[in-house]
Amino acid sequence: MRYEGRFFINGEIIDTCVEVEDGKITRIKKSMSGCTRIPGTVLPGGTDLHVHFREPGQEHKEDFYTGTMSAAFGGITMVADMPNNRPPITTEERFREKLNEVQSRANVDFSLYIMLTRSTPTVPGALYKWYMYEAPDAKLVDGHITVHAELPECAGNADTLSGYDSARPARCEVRAVRKLLNMNRKFHIAHISSPDTVDMCKIGRFTCEITPHHLFLHKNMELKGFGKVNPPLRARWVASRLWEELVEGRIDIIASDHAPHTIDEKEQEFREAPPGIPEVETYLPIFMYLMRQGKISLTRLVKIIMERPPEIIGVKKGKIAPGYDADFVAFKLSDVKRIKPEKLHYKCQWTPYEGFFGIFPTHVYLRGEKIIENGEMVGEKIGEFKTSRS
Ligand code: DOR
Ligand code: ZN
Repeated sequence: MRYEGRFFINGEIIDTCVEVEDGKITRIKKSMSGCTRIPGTVLPGGTDLHVHFREPGQEHKEDFYTGTMSAAFGGITMVADMPNNRPPITTEERFREKLNEVQSRANVDFSLYIMLTRSTPTVPGALYKWYMYEAPDAKLVDGHITVHAELPECAGNADTLSGYDSARPARCEVRAVRKLLNMNRKFHIAHISSPDTVDMCKIGRFTCEITPHHLFLHKNMELKGFGKVNPPLRARWVASRLWEELVEGRIDIIASDHAPHTIDEKEQEFREAPPGIPEVETYLPIFMYLMRQGKISLTRLVKIIMERPPEIIGVKKGKIAPGYDADFVAFKLSDVKRIKPEKLHYKCQWTPYEGFFGIFPTHVYLRGEKIIENGEMVGEKIGEFKTSRS
């Protein structure tokens, strides 16, 4: 297959041809015969290292098919799915069962996490997730470990969104990361919610991610239970500082922490509402809009959403270069839309970003195959399991 278009290559938009064989980019040349045109501005596909697609056990909130479909519509061609399922993915057997179950219905490529416990198994190809507040004495293994850095003594609750920030304060996150510094190994720190945590990560040379909600939402918004999330939303000034840290290059990546719950669950009294916000489909479109507004450069956007996430787990995606997967997302930059929940593909049917502006991809290609064309899904269930060797 050969495609021509305006591709983002090495920090520039270049009108060129890209040859694809067996899903991988083989050659890039100014002109080749038999090229199919991809319209608009073509970027590499995004990778989201932190999603909760709720399968097995909570498929009424999301399942692997709807979760990966939502990802595709948001320009995300690879996800890494978290292990806090029902039952949790703590053994090799459960890992294999989950992989077996989900792989025939994945609409984008994916990796899977195993949850660290006191007897964590070593499973080739798995990623690992450490919930420090639930398993403070977990057994660490060699491999990629993403850490939820909250401590057991800080896992509080509250009656309001702003009270929740005090019940699970940011200083606890900083303390949790400080503990990791003594362990003499690398970690990836999930959903950092404070600039001080960024400083800690730098000391340990840890990689870190930030969620869209810790950048775009804050604790004084009228979100009630819909804004409840762990770690909590912080003050508006904290979100602004974190945005600066991101734009200046001190935060490695964006990860959505897409954690859907039903509207009924979120409408309960704040204390009862489960924590989590859905957002795999909306963050790249919001970032594209902010890029168009001059709030962030295209190069930085591509770095934090496309290039760095797969690099962190050793997967060859996120660059339009020979040897990389041919994942393309095409945008018409003038196509700014207001986000509406009914236009999204989540099972839970809500978003805290209603009314935000976004630029959604018109076309999406996964390993050279078209999966979205003019905003419609045209290829489904071709997602593959990815490990650091594939
Ligand atoms: O807010 C959150 N929701 N934080 C987590 O750590 C888990 C997640 C979920 O699974 O709902
Ligand atoms: Zn999470």
